[in-house]
Amino acid sequence: MALLRILTLEQDEEALRKKSRPLEVVNQRTRTLLDDLYETMQEANGVGLAAPQVGVLRRVVVIDVGEGRIDLVNPEIIATDGEQEDREGCLSVPEECGIVKRPMTVTVKALDKNGKPFTLTGEGLLARALCHEIDHLDGVIYVDKASRMLTPEEMEELEEE
Ligand code: NI
Repeated sequence: MALLRILTLEQDEEALRKKSRPLEVVNQRTRTLLDDLYETMQEANGVGLAAPQVGVLRRVVVIDVGEGRIDLVNPEIIATDGEQEDREGCLSVPEECGIVKRPMTVTVKALDKNGKPFTLTGEGLLARALCHEIDHLDGVIYVDKASRMLTPEEMEELEEE
């Protein structure tokens, strides 16, 4: 496994704004990418990471909101329900947080690391992470959707929590 450099909105906006392409085959290279994404995400204390955030324009995502690792290849949101408004951050936008409205429940279909189709329904933080990471695949960053960003004072309070 390898740690990858995470692109930032400040330095790499052009790359982060590109649309990622679906994978046609899921193979050992895909599994290595998923492992590297996961390791990189964990090292950075994130709950999700999308391949374009490390400069790979492919529709590949890893998520772990504390309930175990989820690998998603070519994920698509097929259903949403309800609404939640809460804080959101991104490894590509370090030291910032914004308030973003997301669905409360999200159902996604994707391929797993062996290329097998599955569907997954997430609520709360997992639903938020699914939306956030899938947005990355289309070059969308949460700051585009935030109703407001947290102030430096609010960020300080968060760090003390
Ligand atoms: Ni992000």
